[in-house]
Amino acid sequence: MIELNNISKWYAVGGNRNYVLRDVKFSVREGEFVSIMGPSGSGKSTLLHILGLIDEPSEGYHYFMGEAVHLLKEKQRSNLAKANIGFVFQAYHLIDELNVYENIETPLIYHNVKGSERKAMVADMLDRFQIVGKKDLFPSQLSGGQQQLVGIARSLIASPRLLLADEPTGNLNSRQGEEIMELFRKLNSQDGVTIIQVTHSEKNATYGKRVIHLLDGKIEKETQE
Ligand SMILES: Nc1ncnc2c1ncn2[C@@H]1O[C@H](COP(=O)(O)OP(=O)(O)O)[C@@H](O)[C@H]1O
Ligand SMILES: [Mg+2]
Repeated sequence: MIELNNISKWYAVGGNRNYVLRDVKFSVREGEFVSIMGPSGSGKSTLLHILGLIDEPSEGYHYFMGEAVHLLKEKQRSNLAKANIGFVFQAYHLIDELNVYENIETPLIYHNVKGSERKAMVADMLDRFQIVGKKDLFPSQLSGGQQQLVGIARSLIASPRLLLADEPTGNLNSRQGEEIMELFRKLNSQDGVTIIQVTHSEKNATYGKRVIHLLDGKIEKETQE
């Protein structure tokens, strides 16, 4: 599903290259559940953004769903991402002016799904996440855990084949975190969604079957659970 080869990312700082990722090489098969760990600043978010086609590497080869991403134009890349990738951010990234229902519905509008179908799909998702009673509330009226559930519901509404999550439980208490990890486990094992998550938690990392350890922008080692 994914192949990265010699991926590097740098920022130019005073004529020098400041490397954030260096020569990263790995591949992920459809249906895998992978965790990425590493100290703060080691390049985890940058790597996830590249995998999510939100950011571009400075160098290297990137294949996703049979496409050579490094050769695609901006518009083609964003269409490929929209059709296949869901992204869960640590800081929720919900739209404050929209209520829960509308936040979850947003990706379907981008996908040109028609109104009656959108209604059914959002209702189904609200039900599945047991947040039907919250549908008219705004993000500021929800707890952190509830906001993250809405963020995840939104990332899943268009049935992505790949779910990328950047410290999805970083702002949650341990019970809420565990609920989200269980949800990911189900999505992966029952629905076959490929998952790549960044986490600081050893315990959460064990939900993945492979753990990739990043250090200073390089893959330091990979372990199996
Ligand atoms: N836009 C940017 N310009 C310059 N440096 C950046 C930029 N974005 C990230 N970095 C640097 O890249 C490094 C890795 O960042 P990041 O991928 O966010 O790490 P992590 O998620 O592991 O904490 C950090 O040192 C950060 O300062
Ligand atoms: Mg990060």
